[in-house]
Amino acid sequence: MSRLCLPIWASSLQYLSRISQNMISVVLAGVWRNVLVETLAALGASVRWSACNIYSTQNEVAAALAECGFPIYAWKGENEDDFWWCIDKCINAEGWQPNMILDDGGDATHWLLKKYPAMFNMVKGIVEESVTGVHRLYQLSKSGKLTVPAMNVNDSVTKTKFDNLYSCRESILDALKRTTDVMFGGKQVLICGYGEVGKGCSQALKGLGAIVSVTEIDPICALQACMDGFRVVKLEEVVRSIDVLITCTGNKNVVTRSHLDRLKNGCIVCNMGHSNTEIDVASLRTPELTWEKVRSQVEHIIWPDGKRIIMLAEGRLVNLSCSSVPSFVVSITATTQALALIELFNAPTGRYKQDVYLLPKKMDEYVASLHLPNFDAHLTELTDDQAKYLGLNKAGPFKPNYYRY
Ligand SMILES: NC(=O)c1ccc[n+]([C@@H]2O[C@H](COP(=O)([O-])OP(=O)(O)OC[C@H]3O[C@@H](n4cnc5c(N)ncnc54)[C@H](O)[C@@H]3O)[C@@H](O)[C@H]2O)c1
Repeated sequence: MSRLCLPIWASSLQYLSRISQNMISVVLAGVWRNVLVETLAALGASVRWSACNIYSTQNEVAAALAECGFPIYAWKGENEDDFWWCIDKCINAEGWQPNMILDDGGDATHWLLKKYPAMFNMVKGIVEESVTGVHRLYQLSKSGKLTVPAMNVNDSVTKTKFDNLYSCRESILDALKRTTDVMFGGKQVLICGYGEVGKGCSQALKGLGAIVSVTEIDPICALQACMDGFRVVKLEEVVRSIDVLITCTGNKNVVTRSHLDRLKNGCIVCNMGHSNTEIDVASLRTPELTWEKVRSQVEHIIWPDGKRIIMLAEGRLVNLSCSSVPSFVVSITATTQALALIELFNAPTGRYKQDVYLLPKKMDEYVASLHLPNFDAHLTELTDDQAKYLGLNKAGPFKPNYYRY
């Protein structure tokens, strides 16, 4: 069995068990997180699990959990019907009522709300992991349909920094190397979008000696790119000369067929941003272009004049398709999710209304502090005098909610 090794996660268990003494029943829709499932169960939860994505299940992990007796409804390569069947099986079990939902994308939440409204109303809280799921929760809240409190863990600082910046800074290189074996020193690389993901990718490629340029629509991010030593350009200005094109905008149709037509021979094209919408890959499915599969997740698209571009993962998230998420990143997000579940479950009546909340800052800091010993990092403690001077509690939180890290 492929098993995660999460020493930090395990060490947080002691703390978690002190604050969660009650039985919780969790519907868990997400990517493979076997240690999270085992940990929630060790804390007394009755957990059922389905996948949040038809490709994201690791079959060996699902099988191992099923063998341990967990009701698991997930396998790699489900079709659309399987996917909804699994979610339904996960939620609708005789004699079982979920009181917490841990979701990634919002499908389990919406299925429960649509199909089992009475059951939904008995849920104590929803913890949501993804940008899309959080967006859907805010829409529910706006339309007055959110009848339970929800925690947006996507925007907790530790999760965002690790998932978007630090993890992408490493996995972009891993994904590019595994698929292309190209040397990146001296190559002209264009990164579209200089947010968290774009910053990580730009830093990583600069570190390899690539000549990195950036496109941006936001003058603040564009200025940041300038201050970090990157040229800010329009895609049209460099489209004929770049060797590598990476999208990180969260937007759609950032790279169109007209751009792809003008790329030079051998250009590598991939996406690190949203789903498969950033590059208009569908526009390349025309009779005059030939698609040649070179290896898994690598395709050459050949124009009639012999020019070819190298498309990775058909424009889907290249790191998720061709690399893997380090267990350290999983540890950060899983710890955040578990703390959010416990906070919502144990909160006294009235602390959370029927709305979407961010994880309390103190818990975000706690997740970070649990991971510091891994680096033998020693935190400085405020003196009483300093705490008074800054108007802070010595135990935190150390920053206001509006602080930008
Ligand atoms: N690959 C991964 O593992 C991974 C991890 C985390 C997030 N993501 C996804 O990556 C995307 C970006 O995340 P983020 O945290 O960097 O978001 P962000 O909002 O911090 O950054 C996106 C940037 O793109 C810019 N932008 C938008 N449209 C643009 C356009 N047409 N041209 C140029 N720039 C444009 C925005 O101004 C913004 O600065 C999201 O879709 C997110 O879900 C991917």
